[in-house]
Amino acid sequence: MSPSQGTAKGRTVTLHMVSSLDGFIARHDNTVSWMDTPGSVYEPGVTISQEQIATFLKSIDCYVLGSRTYEHALELGWPYGDTPVVVVTTRKWPQAKNSVEFYSGDLKTLVDEKLAARYRNIWLAGGATLSQRFLELGLVDEIKLTIAPVLLGAGLRLFGDSLQEKKWSLQNVVAYKNGFVELSYAALAA
Ligand SMILES: NC(=O)c1ccc[n+]([C@@H]2O[C@H](COP(=O)([O-])OP(=O)(O)OC[C@H]3O[C@@H](n4cnc5c(N)ncnc54)[C@H](OP(=O)(O)O)[C@@H]3O)[C@@H](O)[C@H]2O)c1
Repeated sequence: MSPSQGTAKGRTVTLHMVSSLDGFIARHDNTVSWMDTPGSVYEPGVTISQEQIATFLKSIDCYVLGSRTYEHALELGWPYGDTPVVVVTTRKWPQAKNSVEFYSGDLKTLVDEKLAARYRNIWLAGGATLSQRFLELGLVDEIKLTIAPVLLGAGLRLFGDSLQEKKWSLQNVVAYKNGFVELSYAALAA
């Protein structure tokens, strides 16, 4: 099922993260240079053009971020274009971007009422804290995990101890020439 089709619930929440081989999504100092590790070439892998990336990004209806990911995105350079972004936070923030709105409250209400009414293809783009809350609440329909060919040794773990055992169904695997591998999983019915 492609994300734009939505689920029977009418929307699809996709958790997307880039992880190191040892399961970290950020260094403790927040630097992200490890994501552009040059040098490794996997010859049978595929490459995708900027046009393909742009077409794919257009299919995303909205992003959901934790406030620490939001802060980091503002510092690093905004990667979400004009696509609507919902930042989950308990704090008051200045309106730095027109495409951003802030949400505080129950996450199931956010997804099932606020977002599902407006969007079909919803991307949960981090960070670890918010992703774990979504997983605990069963709000994630798909996981897209891109594994970078690097061991970091330390940092922020994507998955914590709070999660319960749950099986997922592998939907797709794409290996890229730069050594990154994208794994796509769909949630199995409970
Ligand atoms: N490798 C990747 O693909 C990737 C992707 C995204 C982010 N990152 C990195 O991950 C790091 C940030 O991740 P993180 O885990 O530290 O933080 P995060 O999940 O981005 O944000 C956590 C914050 O979100 C708010 N929040 C979370 N759950 C909430 C809830 N149920 N209700 C209300 N507010 C809630 C709280 O903000 P308030 O304190 O404001 O209330 C909380 O402090 C950054 O370094 C970022 O660059 C990496």
